[in-house]
Amino acid sequence: MTKNVLILPGDGIGPEITAEAVKVLNKLVETDGLDIAMEEDLVGGAAYDVHGVPLADETMDKAHNADAVLLGAVGGYKWESLDISVRPEKGLLRLRKEMGLFANLRPAVLFPQLASASTLKPEIVAGLDILIVRELTGGIYFGQPRGIRTLENGERQGYNTYVYSESEVKRIAHVAFQAAMKRNKKLTSVDKANVLEVTEMWREVVDEVAKEYPEVEVKHMYVDNAAMQLVLNPKQFDVMVTGNMFGDILSDEASMLTGSIGMLASASLDENNKGMYEPSHGSAPDIAGQNKANPLATILSAAMMLRYSLGREDLAVKIEDAISKVLDQGLRTGDIWSEGCTQVTCSEMGDAVVAAL
Ligand code: IPM
Ligand code: MG
Repeated sequence: MTKNVLILPGDGIGPEITAEAVKVLNKLVETDGLDIAMEEDLVGGAAYDVHGVPLADETMDKAHNADAVLLGAVGGYKWESLDISVRPEKGLLRLRKEMGLFANLRPAVLFPQLASASTLKPEIVAGLDILIVRELTGGIYFGQPRGIRTLENGERQGYNTYVYSESEVKRIAHVAFQAAMKRNKKLTSVDKANVLEVTEMWREVVDEVAKEYPEVEVKHMYVDNAAMQLVLNPKQFDVMVTGNMFGDILSDEASMLTGSIGMLASASLDENNKGMYEPSHGSAPDIAGQNKANPLATILSAAMMLRYSLGREDLAVKIEDAISKVLDQGLRTGDIWSEGCTQVTCSEMGDAVVAAL
């Protein structure tokens, strides 16, 4: 049966990088019997410019009805002064929340060909393979109350609320433990339990869930230490599980271990593995429209979509192998370029992956 994929290119480099992923998917439709129908729509600033909101209700409906969503990136200078309620990022957060995409998987895997592109020494990052499991629909991103208020003395005060309920922690912990069971059976749960009660409870719930996975070795780590350990000795980690904001920060950090944030894919899944797939990086407005961006994180996200939502593990592996081949050929976008390699544009990189398929 034909599966429906909603493509949401978004803003900045979003349209350029998603175009390359669509190219790759179209190639698989042609040659490998991939049975999908793709439809495009607007999100973020691009949606705001047309509809006055960063995600139109019709687009939300399409996302609900699709089998999977592939998103580029949202945001840009042009929309920074808008009221926070209609900023591009809100479109993305609405998709995550209303689709119930609580489990964000962000694999930081180093392609051996890129060991020298990392700012860390090759021996520190060689063989790196970390999976960050980030809770995506709770925590301080969504906690109420929130806002900016004026105090009696006339001073303004900004406030947000960091909350997690037990059930939210439990379900993300299960996702992380199950992922660890399929990997090296090591889980690090990241919190700030020395200061924040919400994460003190997080730690207790993770320990309870751990009893159901006796084979998995569990460690707890404060987030400041985790940030340090990631650059000191990143290979100590297998699966890391953490809340929404810590996961946002640590996944950007982990991406640089792999050479560039332009390599980090992500899957955001609901209870039934329906998902949205997007690169972990942002819209990079400074290089938008210049055909310079690295499309590989988006193409790798499309591979994750084939794996988790479209039941085509074979094609996911095929894409990953094709990317490896292209890197073997020495082709690099600017962000991962190093001495002796050939610098290519965003669309040349996409073409090379298609050719390698
Ligand atoms: C990410 C991004 C988003 C986030 C922004 C664009 C809202 O940084 O996906 O990591 O903070 O989750
Ligand atoms: Mg982020």
